[in-house]
Amino acid sequence: MRGNLILIEGLDRSGKSTQATILAEKLDAQLIKFPDRSTPIGQIINRYLVDRDFHLPDQAAHLLFSANRWELANSLVESLQAGKNIVMDRYIYSGIAYSLAKKGAEMDSHEWLYGPDRGLPKPDLTLFLTISLEELSSRKGYGEERYEQLEFQSKVKECFLKILDSSDPTIAIVDVDGLSIDEVTGKLWSEIHIRGLDQSSNNKITYFQ
Ligand code: ADP
Ligand code: TMP
Ligand code: MG
Repeated sequence: MRGNLILIEGLDRSGKSTQATILAEKLDAQLIKFPDRSTPIGQIINRYLVDRDFHLPDQAAHLLFSANRWELANSLVESLQAGKNIVMDRYIYSGIAYSLAKKGAEMDSHEWLYGPDRGLPKPDLTLFLTISLEELSSRKGYGEERYEQLEFQSKVKECFLKILDSSDPTIAIVDVDGLSIDEVTGKLWSEIHIRGLDQSSNNKITYFQ
C-alpha cells in the first residue's frame, strides 16, 4: 500500500500554506513546499524572489524552479512507497503558470516550459484555489515578493486556468472567495474524501508524461 500525493495550487496569498498545514495534519502527511528554499538551488530561488535587484534570465529562473522539484523527487517517491501521505504546497502548475504569464520567447511555449518537469511524480489530486484579486490584495503581507502585483497575478490566474485541464479527473478547481479558513478546509476535504484519498491505495504512482 502506498500513500497519496495531494497538491494545493493557487495564486500568492490565496490560502495554500494555511490549508496545506491543516490537511497535512488531518491526513498525517508529510508537508512539502515548493520552492523549497532550504536546498542549494532553493537558496538561489529565494534570493531571486526577495531581491528585485538580483536578475536572472526568465529561462534560467524557470529551470531553477524545476531543478528544485527534482532535488526532492526521489525522496518524495520513496515516502509514498513507504505508505506516507504527502501534501504539497505548489508544484509544476505554478512553474508553468508563472513563467507563461511573463510572456515572450520561450515563455510563450507551453512545450518548452513543461519539458523539464516531465518524469516528476504526478499528484493523485490537485486542488486549485480560485479567489478574486480584490480579496487577495487585502491579505496580510501581500506585495512583499517579486510577482506579488495585481496586474501580474491577474495574468497568472488566466494562465493557471488555461493550463489546468478540467477534463483531468485528478484536477479540482475550488472557488474559495469569501470563505473562512474552516469553510475552505471543508470544501477541500470533501474533494479528497469523495476520491477515497483519505485511505491508502495500491494504485501505481503516475508520472508527468
Ligand atoms: P499562500 O500560501 O497561498 O500565499 P497563506 O496561507 O499564507 O497563503 O495565507 C495568506 C494570508 O491570508 C495569511 O495571513 C492567512 O492567515 C490569511 N488567510 C488564509 N486563508 C484565509 C481565509 N480563508 N480567509 C481569510 N484570510 C485567510
Ligand atoms: P511561495 O510564496 O509559495 O513561497 O512561492 C514563491 C513564489 O514563487 C510565488 O510567487 C510563485 C513562484 N513560483 C514560480 O514562479 N515557479 C514555481 O515553479 C514555483 C513553485 C513558484
Ligand atoms: Mg504560502
